[in-house]
Amino acid sequence: MSTFTIDSLGIVGTGAMGRGIAQIAAQAGLTVSLYDTNPQAVAAARQYLQDTFAKLAEKGKMSAEDGAAALARVLPCNALEDLAGCDMVLEAIVERLEVKRDLVAKLEAILRPDAVIASNTSSLSITAIAVGAKQPGRSRRLSTFQPGAADEGGRGDRRPVWRPRRG
Ligand SMILES: NC(=O)c1ccc[n+]([C@@H]2O[C@H](COP(=O)([O-])OP(=O)(O)OC[C@H]3O[C@@H](n4cnc5c(N)ncnc54)[C@H](O)[C@@H]3O)[C@@H](O)[C@H]2O)c1
Repeated sequence: MSTFTIDSLGIVGTGAMGRGIAQIAAQAGLTVSLYDTNPQAVAAARQYLQDTFAKLAEKGKMSAEDGAAALARVLPCNALEDLAGCDMVLEAIVERLEVKRDLVAKLEAILRPDAVIASNTSSLSITAIAVGAKQPGRSRRLSTFQPGAADEGGRGDRRPVWRPRRG
C-alpha cells in the first residue's frame, strides 16, 4: 500500500461535518483553508473552532498555546480559488450528486494536477461523483478523518497520513 502526506487541506462546505474535520486537521498540524458558498458558514466554523479549542484548553486537554496555534492554521477563504495551493481538498457540501460533480470540475480547474480531491459523502458513490472529471483517479472518499484514517479511494491503494511534512 502506498501512502501520501499532506501539509495543507482545503475544506469546501463548513457545516456540521466540515468544521469537525477542520478541527481534527488543524490539531494534527495541517494548514486548513475553509470555503463555503455561504460566508456566514465560514465565520461560524471559525468561531466554532475558536470556542472548541478554548474549551479543550479549559479542560486541560490541550494547552492554550497549542489551541492558539491550531486556530492560526485555519484560514477562512472568500473564494474557491483561494484553495489553489492545497495538497488535498475535501468537500463536505450538500449531499447532491450534480452539485458535487460541479464542484469537482471547478476544483480540477483550480488545483495542482497532483492534488487530491476528496469527498465526505455519506451515501453517494465516489465513482459517480468523479464521472466527467479529467483525472477521476485522484478522487477519494474519506469516511473517517483521523490520523492515519483509511480511505476508500477509486484505486483503494492510498492512505492519507495526517502528519505535516514540516516540523
Ligand atoms: N451530518 C452527518 O452526520 C454526516 C456524516 C457523514 C457524512 N456526511 C456528509 O457530509 C456532507 C456534509 O454534511 P453536513 O451534515 O456537514 O451538511 P451541512 O448542511 O451541515 O453543511 C453543508 C455546507 O455546505 C455548504 N454548501 C452547499 N453547497 C455548496 C457548494 N456548492 N459549494 C460550497 N459550499 C456549499 C452549505 O452552505 C453548508 O454550509 C454531506 O455529503 C453529508 O452526506 C454527513
